[in-house]
Amino acid sequence: MTAPELSLTSLVADPYGGYTRLRADAPVHRLVGPDGLPFWLVTRYPDVRQALADPRLALDKAHAAPGNYRGFALPPALDANLLNMDPPDHTRIRRLVSRAFTPRRIAALRAPVEKVAEQLLDSMAPAGRADLLAAYAAPLPITVICDLLGVPEDDRHDFRAWTDSLITPDPDRPEAARAAVKAMLGFFTGLIERKRTAPGDDLLSDLIAVRDERGEGEPEVRDVREGEGGDRLSEDELTSLAFLILFAGYENTVHLIANAVLALLTHPEQLAALRAEPELIDGAVEEFARFDGPAPLAIRRFAREPVTIGGVTVPAGETVLLALGSANRDPEQFADPDRLDLRRRENGHLALGHGIHYCLGAPLARMETAVALTALLRRFPRLALDAPVERLRHRPTLRARGLLELPVRY
Ligand code: HEM
Repeated sequence: MTAPELSLTSLVADPYGGYTRLRADAPVHRLVGPDGLPFWLVTRYPDVRQALADPRLALDKAHAAPGNYRGFALPPALDANLLNMDPPDHTRIRRLVSRAFTPRRIAALRAPVEKVAEQLLDSMAPAGRADLLAAYAAPLPITVICDLLGVPEDDRHDFRAWTDSLITPDPDRPEAARAAVKAMLGFFTGLIERKRTAPGDDLLSDLIAVRDERGEGEPEVRDVREGEGGDRLSEDELTSLAFLILFAGYENTVHLIANAVLALLTHPEQLAALRAEPELIDGAVEEFARFDGPAPLAIRRFAREPVTIGGVTVPAGETVLLALGSANRDPEQFADPDRLDLRRRENGHLALGHGIHYCLGAPLARMETAVALTALLRRFPRLALDAPVERLRHRPTLRARGLLELPVRY
């Protein structure tokens, strides 16, 4: 049940090797996080998939017993988001935003995304070499999500630094993460105020309108049950939703694009296949998400009651982490799981989750990644790594799987 021989540090250094051992050893392990707090780690595909959709595993921290790992600590105005909520609050808010993320809406964004990609490639071209992460993989999703939400151009520059401080807090400088949270909160509150007085044609203005529609004397939304006035947002929910969409819409997409480029550059035969048949791209994006997805762990869940997973009973109030990255390499589910195979069929990966919290932005993430890779390969026929692969470093965290830099030449 426990794997004392496997340290978290070694799992961070070699996640797929570590998960292979954990999966073979037991379906569920009790581990202790860097903050000293324990959690249960679920590693096999069928258990992870089932647990993702298990209503007995709650996302609301109110179900956490003291002394268990809880994840990010954010102020209420950022914390009242979908990833900390269960039905009925989750249902109400998800319904409100899902309209903005339908495949049809996303299809309409394709041409603007292609334009952004081409502009970034234009700026990169003359130098002949670049850090692809900073020059392409990061600015593309930030531009797309900021355009969608309506974040003005001048306000976009601090975002990468803020999200980095949250994802990989520097243990020697805890104040940096706190400062980033404070800055983000100030930013969203200010932006919402400005959009209240001068609404635009964007998602944030639409959400503010929903929030402000509340009639005179009507109660705050927290007192409103689903079904009676179930299309309203509280002020904390509004700021939290804007934060979640920007954060989730940016962070993971950057690293899916960069991880995919690295996978291609280290698998020349797969790169050649995609260059020869660009129409493989949609299946390829699924395979990149399975093979080296940017979100290797689902959001922590808390057992509302004793829950048995893979034969192991997790007591009520304890924390469960579902290892999506491990499930996606489970040999019982995927033939030859450590092989990158862009033609893989029936790729039921869990990189975007499963169940009611299934990634809201999945159609956007897929489209952006497909556009980014297609444009990049078309523009640079001789794209190659510009550093020995052993020198590339990943961010030192289990929570996210992403490179610090991706030096390329073209
Ligand atoms: C490659 C990119 C992405 C990956 C790998 C990814 C991954 C995920 C995963 C695994 C979940 C489920 C978490 C859980 O159940 O524990 C999730 C939820 C979510 N994602 Fe994504 N995501 C990506 C892109 C995006 C984008 C582009 C957006 C928005 C524009 C977005 C917004 C969200 C939101 C709002 C949720 C919460 C949904 C809910 O709780 O109902 N994500 N994502």
